[in-house]
Amino acid sequence: MITVSEPASRLVCSGCGSSPSAAEPYPFRCPRAGEGDVDHVLQRHLDTTRLRFPLGDATGNEPFVQYRTLLHSYHRARSGGLADAEFVALVERLDSSVAQVDGHGFVVTPFGRSEHLSKSLGFEDSGGVWVKDETGNVAGSHKGRHLMGVLLHLEVAERLGLASPEHRPGLAIASCGNAALAAAVLAAAGGRRLRVFVPVDADAAIVARLADLGADVTVCPRGPGTTGDPTYARLREEISLGALAFSCQGNENGLAIEGGETIGYEMVSDLLRSEVDLDHIVVQVGGGALASSCAQSFGEAVDLGVVARSPRLHTVQTSGAHPLERAYGGVQRLLAGVTSHEDIDRALREAASHRSDFMRPWESEPKSIATGILDDETYDWLAVVEGMLKSGGRPVVVTEERLAEANELGKDGGFRVDATGSSGLAGLIDLRVEGVVRPEERVAVLFTGTEREAK
Ligand SMILES: Cc1ncc(COP(=O)(O)O)c(C=O)c1O
Repeated sequence: MITVSEPASRLVCSGCGSSPSAAEPYPFRCPRAGEGDVDHVLQRHLDTTRLRFPLGDATGNEPFVQYRTLLHSYHRARSGGLADAEFVALVERLDSSVAQVDGHGFVVTPFGRSEHLSKSLGFEDSGGVWVKDETGNVAGSHKGRHLMGVLLHLEVAERLGLASPEHRPGLAIASCGNAALAAAVLAAAGGRRLRVFVPVDADAAIVARLADLGADVTVCPRGPGTTGDPTYARLREEISLGALAFSCQGNENGLAIEGGETIGYEMVSDLLRSEVDLDHIVVQVGGGALASSCAQSFGEAVDLGVVARSPRLHTVQTSGAHPLERAYGGVQRLLAGVTSHEDIDRALREAASHRSDFMRPWESEPKSIATGILDDETYDWLAVVEGMLKSGGRPVVVTEERLAEANELGKDGGFRVDATGSSGLAGLIDLRVEGVVRPEERVAVLFTGTEREAK
């Protein structure tokens, strides 16, 4: 266990290199956010010389307990004087509040080879499709993981005396679906106020559930002739008025990523136990926090010496909107065919300091059956482009027909997954057709969202 006073991880802006001060209670954004055309996103860097991957830790089935020694909230708590057992108790208390609100708390989710999907996509016995099934997770998706990670930071700030429980800032999120539901569950569990900004076409059943959970919901219409997501614009306004981003966009809250990384840590542990090496991972991308979490968790497992190499990261967006694929193309042009990690780092630094040349809001209002990945912008694009370039993966843009086909296949395989949740599988079908993924290779997809009752 870590007992020294320096935290075993630090936060650094990937765009400008700045770090928040150690006394900052809510170190969620780069202190220079908004300056220049720079991609200011705080990234957590583990001091891998002082950490080990928590293998075979007999701490049960709660991911935030199991993988706590890799969390910045834990490092902060420990360096501020909290005992390991106090942090564990804090997680367990929050988790039982989550269970009271949502019926169950966080547990390690299933991950295994699907015979049905592997056969249907023509894989050999040595290869196949491994599914990480998040459909039974808190609030019906993986999103709660990001926000549980943030909630732990909020709690730790109070325990360390950096923030007062008497004067808690309100929390805010822009989302119409899974992230909003997860935020409302977690905010209720943590006893915190939440404002949710939703689009005009938000699902009425979801809006009703948000209100039931005590969230304050504001509907945000699109202004005529404007680009960019109006709910996101309102979130930015709210943050400028003092609210804290309780959202899954890494640029608004860089610490949202580490909770999401528990997905990758769980996959790494399962793969090690079953002695399987993954060749590819195919991840659906909206705002990019999920794919960023996957890239970073596998990268850290490599740095911590438990995995030889990261699987090739491929990302999936719809033909309705693919700002990540556009940004990836821009960075590829800078690279002009060179592939060394030093060249990639140089190109990414260049892209980070000319953000709008690479990442800008999609020009038309996107539509798709995969409603959860229709973000106008991929907020965590830089980390995801880096993950693809360094692992040898690439973006895939799928049609509506492919999304429908993948969803049917996922359901036939016995998963209660929605079209967004199975969109990674749609990308995998394309990659199989193109021969990028071969029949003897092992591929992971993430089924991230449950199919909800029809209204
Ligand atoms: C079910 C589901 N899967 C995947 C995603 C994409 O995650 P991200 O926005 O982090 O890219 C979302 C986002 O809303 C989602 O709801």
